Amino acid sequence: MNDTEIIKLQTRCVSHEIRNHVSICDMYAEIIKRNIERDGYDNKSVLNAVDCIKKSLKIISNSLIDLKCLNKLTLQYYDFKNVVEEGFQLATPYIQDKNINMKCFVKNSAEIFIDETKFLACIVNIIKNAIEAIEIKGEISVIAEVKDGFGYIRISNNGKMISKEKQKEIFEEGFTTKQTGSGLGLYICKTNLEAQGARLKLNKSTRTVTEFEIAVPVVV
Ligand SMILES: Nc1ncnc2c1ncn2[C@@H]1O[C@H](COP(=O)(O)OP(=O)(O)OP(=O)(O)O)[C@@H](O)[C@H]1O
Ligand SMILES: [Mg+2]
Repeated sequence: MNDTEIIKLQTRCVSHEIRNHVSICDMYAEIIKRNIERDGYDNKSVLNAVDCIKKSLKIISNSLIDLKCLNKLTLQYYDFKNVVEEGFQLATPYIQDKNINMKCFVKNSAEIFIDETKFLACIVNIIKNAIEAIEIKGEISVIAEVKDGFGYIRISNNGKMISKEKQKEIFEEGFTTKQTGSGLGLYICKTNLEAQGARLKLNKSTRTVTEFEIAVPVVV
């Protein structure tokens, strides 16, 4: 076996092992959820946390499937509004203890033909960047609409602006200004969106607002 074959085999084995444990975590999250509901333990934030854990586990599990069949897309029809709102929900845990006012408004909807996991991961990555750009206190808005055959998702935040020079580099593989960043987020988002016929661009970054835009074709 050559090095590439060994790496492939190990990747498959490791993803298999991780997926086994992810499904155990998912099973226990479901048990916790059912127990909370059965006992009438009325704590919305705990139920919400369990739901977020389950969704994150789904993303981890799907990403691990991706590792087995690299670059393969699973395209299906989804409701644009539902996908945007789900992506928004999935990203909220990244706020942690920052004081961020997050809002999401989807004006209208249509069907889109996408790989749900990869599309959701893009929304989450862009919102995560927006959260990371805010030091302590700030605002993030996700505004979406269907217009002229496209679904537009505009994700904006205040906070640290991206200088004109850096704007040219942010979509490059490995470009980061963060101490613990890998610089893969936007690169993966752009590549995955383009593979699904969608686009990602930076609309603007000024002292007051930074705005990214996803445009995905809607099914007519
Ligand atoms: N909303 C934003 N506001 C300010 N700067 C941003 C924003 N989004 C991206 N950037 C800049 O673009 C760079 C690249 O982002 P990208 O998501 O690709 O990598 P990263 O966030 O540094 O690392 P990771 O791989 O963990 O996502 C960031 O390091 C940051 O400098
Ligand atoms: Mg990032």
